[in-house]
Amino acid sequence: MKRVAILISGGGSNMVRLVESMTGDHPARPVLVASNDPAAGGLARAAALSVPTAAVDHKPFGPDRAAFETALLQPLLAAEPDILCLAGFMRILTPAFVERFEGRMLNIHPSLLPAYPGLHTHARAIAAGDAFAGCSVHLVTPKLDDGPILGQARVPVEPGDTADSLAARVLALEHRLYPAVLRRFAVGKTARIDL
Ligand code: GRF
Repeated sequence: MKRVAILISGGGSNMVRLVESMTGDHPARPVLVASNDPAAGGLARAAALSVPTAAVDHKPFGPDRAAFETALLQPLLAAEPDILCLAGFMRILTPAFVERFEGRMLNIHPSLLPAYPGLHTHARAIAAGDAFAGCSVHLVTPKLDDGPILGQARVPVEPGDTADSLAARVLALEHRLYPAVLRRFAVGKTARIDL
């Protein structure tokens, strides 16, 4: 049974779907939900789902990313995860942290990578007049939003779409894509899936 730790920064809607998927004959179970924001709404949602939680506020560490990560590693390593899922986690991780988990750390990004790494992905797709948008689950490498793609899901950009309306349409697909990718990844299947 693979042990999965999930890192969040906010509401944790992706985390909830991942946790809810890990039941029955699923080859993995959630062992920790950790956040860089003690006020993250997802922490209460994880606790309500009986998943252990941890919060390490990144703000006291200021620009010292390595010091924050050293603090985060304490509860994280204590949970002895086999797989790390970044789910709405909004901190950039140092190469040293990434290399520690490389090959078993996944992230979901709200664009059809390699298009639109970074922030404001939906506004950028609309501004570019793209016919499609979507989300990607990828293995995390030291370069931001750049690792091998494990899964993608696409949606049409509708006339009149705003960043919010497009984000909501994509989020619904994120909630299907991430659990599907994790279930396969947990048994060593890394051939990409497309929804
Ligand atoms: C979502 O837009 C997702 O694409 C990105 O973080 C945002 C919030 O996700 N990864 P969640 O509701 O906290 O899972």
